[in-house]
Amino acid sequence: MKFLVLGAAAGGGLPQWNCGCANCNDARAGRIPPATQSSLAVSVDGETWAVLNASPDIRMQMQMLSSLHPRSLRHSPVASVLVTNGDIDHVAGLLSLREQTPFELFATGDIHHVLAQNRIFDAVNREVVTRHQIALDQGFEILMGVQATVFPIPGKVPLYMEGENVQTDLVGEQTVGVRLDDGRRVAYYIPGCALVDDRLYARIADADILFFDGTLWDDEEMIRTGTGVKTGRRMGHIPMSGAEGSIAALASLDCRKVFTHMNNTNPVWRPDSVERIQAEAAGWTIAQDGMEIAL
Ligand code: MLT
Ligand code: MN
Ligand code: ZN
Repeated sequence: MKFLVLGAAAGGGLPQWNCGCANCNDARAGRIPPATQSSLAVSVDGETWAVLNASPDIRMQMQMLSSLHPRSLRHSPVASVLVTNGDIDHVAGLLSLREQTPFELFATGDIHHVLAQNRIFDAVNREVVTRHQIALDQGFEILMGVQATVFPIPGKVPLYMEGENVQTDLVGEQTVGVRLDDGRRVAYYIPGCALVDDRLYARIADADILFFDGTLWDDEEMIRTGTGVKTGRRMGHIPMSGAEGSIAALASLDCRKVFTHMNNTNPVWRPDSVERIQAEAAGWTIAQDGMEIAL
């Protein structure tokens, strides 16, 4: 399998339009690489691709990466799109794919329901873009030669659907991870995760590669940087660091590990930061836009 990181940043991107934090300013000035919003493409032959999450930046991502350019007058190498939750950074890009070129759209029933409730997504013509409802834990062919399975990940409903009381460790169809298997290698893509529990750990034990939620370095990061009032946990994202963070929780998982979906406040964006050096020393790669990985 081949992987292409279309966007390594969390919702907002790096830089985020309204953010003057050190990372965003440095990305604007070209001192650190900018990053677009969360998406990963996968292929076997490099000709046909599945896109995991359709970010608001998908148009630019497709422009930047020649693998995703049309090969004829009206064509796209993107055969399918799968969305792992209903968050804006993962679904808004569907609106950019509305110009009557067919692809298969995979999501759970709950996530399809969110799309169906928002009539703007009717612009993505159901006659052309087939909406497939996928069941948890049931394999399906996402691409010729690649079996995918989605499974529940502790998380929450999208921000725009939050009510008074928000449960941040819901386990169901609203937040899923993806297992990809081409018969040779196994990959997992989990861009949003509130908690690594024993069940999740056991599930991903056969991974050759894991792409995982790297939103925040520490739980209080947005509060500490003055950019927000919520903890990571409240946003449904486990931090990288600390005794209960993902680096510790996944330390004994023996596979290639890649953090993706980093928020713009995350110090790992800075190549020389102690946090980046610590994450890399623990065996993690920090994803960047355009990064290609072949397994
Ligand atoms: C998240 O990952 O927490 C969401 O994408 C936040 C958002 O909607 O901006
Ligand atoms: Mn997100
Ligand atoms: Zn910022």
